[in-house]
Amino acid sequence: MGRPAHRPEIVEAVFSSIKRRWGCRIILSQCLFHRKKLINRGSFYAVRIIVFGAGALGSLFAALLSRQNEVYMVGRREHVLMVSTKGLDIEGNTEGNFSIAAGETLKESPFYPNWIILTVKAYQTEEAGREILDVFPEVPVVSFQNGIENELVLKNMGINAVGGVTSHGVTFLGPGKILHAGTGRTAIGEIDSRSSMRVRALAYVLSEAGILTEVSGNITGEIWLKAAVNAVINPLTAVLGVRNGALISIDPLRKLGDSIASECSEIAEAHGIEMPSDPKDEWKTVAERTAENMSSALQDIINGKRTEIREINGAFVRKAEEKGIDAMYNRAMMNMALGKEKINKEPNRTKLRVY
Ligand code: PAF
Repeated sequence: MGRPAHRPEIVEAVFSSIKRRWGCRIILSQCLFHRKKLINRGSFYAVRIIVFGAGALGSLFAALLSRQNEVYMVGRREHVLMVSTKGLDIEGNTEGNFSIAAGETLKESPFYPNWIILTVKAYQTEEAGREILDVFPEVPVVSFQNGIENELVLKNMGINAVGGVTSHGVTFLGPGKILHAGTGRTAIGEIDSRSSMRVRALAYVLSEAGILTEVSGNITGEIWLKAAVNAVINPLTAVLGVRNGALISIDPLRKLGDSIASECSEIAEAHGIEMPSDPKDEWKTVAERTAENMSSALQDIINGKRTEIREINGAFVRKAEEKGIDAMYNRAMMNMALGKEKINKEPNRTKLRVY
């Protein structure tokens, strides 16, 4: 279990109370100097984190965080077995072999965590929530999942949830091996938009680990924006069998992407959600930054697994219906991707070629 992990919220609280009460520059600079020294020694900001959902993205976050913190990741048997015995191999934007404690369930965790990072598929949120309530009911959870309904599902279950978005592009290459194909923006925030010490402290821990994280006062808008980006990239790449970059380099696909993104904006507006930027620009920025990545939906199709299309395009269709909007692009994308999912589950499917 190693060195004791101090709660960053407490550390921050002590330092900001010194700053508030004494306002003395010399004392403050001394404190900050010593804090920096302790952080550099790795003995102060070590936080105990469980990454629940060690797919491609979860494994990347677990690896980066494990350099300065105590980390345990929960995932599928073959992957966690390989990681526990041989470590996790990462290539691409991050490189190296990382030893991380890993297992199949939360209750095998070697420590009581300060945070749980939730990266399971959006259709597994409820199941994961039940396991969290069973083992660590009081631990705060930050969701970095795809879709717009996860935080609400968790909150309704009584879980202490914080919202998160990230657009890092990561490909699962096989048990114990991932490719960090593209970097992206990461943001976290309280669902009710208030500014909190715990979110600032977690953003610090993530940034120190190399996952540059902003604190957002509008995480719901960020989550919708990320979902709108996924509503364009994920079904198109899955149906067409192309990497993210193809969508911006092929003119008719770019136009189709813009139409889906505009429809998502209309639905968000009808719900009074303010997205921090225009999804029509954002999806192209993300596709460009992750050009070499195979979207999570395409990876699911290749592996004959269920995609998150019901939780992404399907969620936009449901939200549109609530406001009497006809989400024709999102519905068409969802139906095509669901068709592809079904075709690819056939036992005699031919191997998909990715362009
Ligand atoms: O789902 C995905 O694949 C990712 O969210 C993203 C950012 C589109 C990169 O591939």
